[in-house]
Amino acid sequence: MKLLYTSIILICIACNFINADFSHQVTLDQNSNFRLSWDIVNNDFIVFRVEANVKTWIGIGWYCTGCTGSKMAMMNADFTIGQFNSSGFLSVHDMVNGQYEPGQPVDDTTRGGTYDILSSSGYQIDGYSVMIFSKKLNTGDTRDHSIDPSQPFNMLWAYGPVQNNNLDEHPRTQAGQVTIDLLGNENKVIVVDSGNNLLRWHGSFMLIAFGVLMPMAIFTARYLKSYTWWFPLHMFLQTFAFIFMIVAFGLVIKHLDGLPLKSGHGIIGLILVILTFIAMILGGVSHLLWKKDRKTTPLFPDIIHHYQGRLVFLLSVAVIITGIIKYNSVPISNPFVICFSILIGLYISIVVYLEVVEKLNPNSNSIPLDNMK
Ligand SMILES: *[C@@H]1O[C@H](CO)[C@@H](O)[C@H](O)[C@H]1NC(C)=O
Repeated sequence: MKLLYTSIILICIACNFINADFSHQVTLDQNSNFRLSWDIVNNDFIVFRVEANVKTWIGIGWYCTGCTGSKMAMMNADFTIGQFNSSGFLSVHDMVNGQYEPGQPVDDTTRGGTYDILSSSGYQIDGYSVMIFSKKLNTGDTRDHSIDPSQPFNMLWAYGPVQNNNLDEHPRTQAGQVTIDLLGNENKVIVVDSGNNLLRWHGSFMLIAFGVLMPMAIFTARYLKSYTWWFPLHMFLQTFAFIFMIVAFGLVIKHLDGLPLKSGHGIIGLILVILTFIAMILGGVSHLLWKKDRKTTPLFPDIIHHYQGRLVFLLSVAVIITGIIKYNSVPISNPFVICFSILIGLYISIVVYLEVVEKLNPNSNSIPLDNMK
């Protein structure tokens, strides 16, 4: 009987039984319509169908029964990933992660394991990828996690960068972590997406700190010095920029469980945070050393503070753009990148305009910029 069932399943898969009705299905992601369907056969095999409206690799992963992921979601998970070639043909990878190669799944066979996908089928066309594969619930491979259908199934899902079938790292928004009841008819999917939420807050706070408050603070210091209130305003804006930055930095440390040293964005972001600290200190020292009767602005710390502040702002543009690209899947046509670039373009045009006006009309009724504090 067991053999019969197995043969039927394997034959069905071999004959591209792709639109078969599975007895269980959940949608894991609305954006990509990422769906997981499955059947458990004879309490011995499981057949999964993974499909999404994307043209990239697609994959799922799961933890050992009763284990949850560490803070790094992919640690210690067992992965099955479908990769397609340019003609749309599928190859299914049986992969492993965790202590062997954190961050990047590798084939079980390269880590002393075996290839345990019993049968597979699938295809890819524009806007749709599907893979079906069957596996024993317990493969006996030390690099696999056996699946106990009576237990909560803690799993990961992901798909790759847009229109890219190399097994390149997925953008953060294109992955998630869910718990599924494999035997339940109505699946309540608990989306454990807090990591993404932390990153959203991180990006939003940093954008306000460096994209809004800091440019206003620099503008105040450069162009509004004829008003006595420029300094309190400058301090007020920078203090809030600093608070937003610290909160955002804390969020990313919590998300990564450490300093952001693994990516270009993380490293230049860390340098930015350090330079911002230095700018704050130089600003404070400038204020303490300022004397009412001084004739010129000293190079240290004032002028250095002026230029270092601008450097911090320029670096922040690079950090924000790399951050948006890292987080989103469509770098070039990304609306956030385009809108942010327009904003920076506007800032720069305003500054160029004011500088030119100042040069052309040095005796206009404004007070010369550099003679002030
Ligand atoms: C994709 O894989 C299929 C099956 O292995 C093969 O016949 C086909 O030539 C491959 N296409 C490309 C572009 O490599």
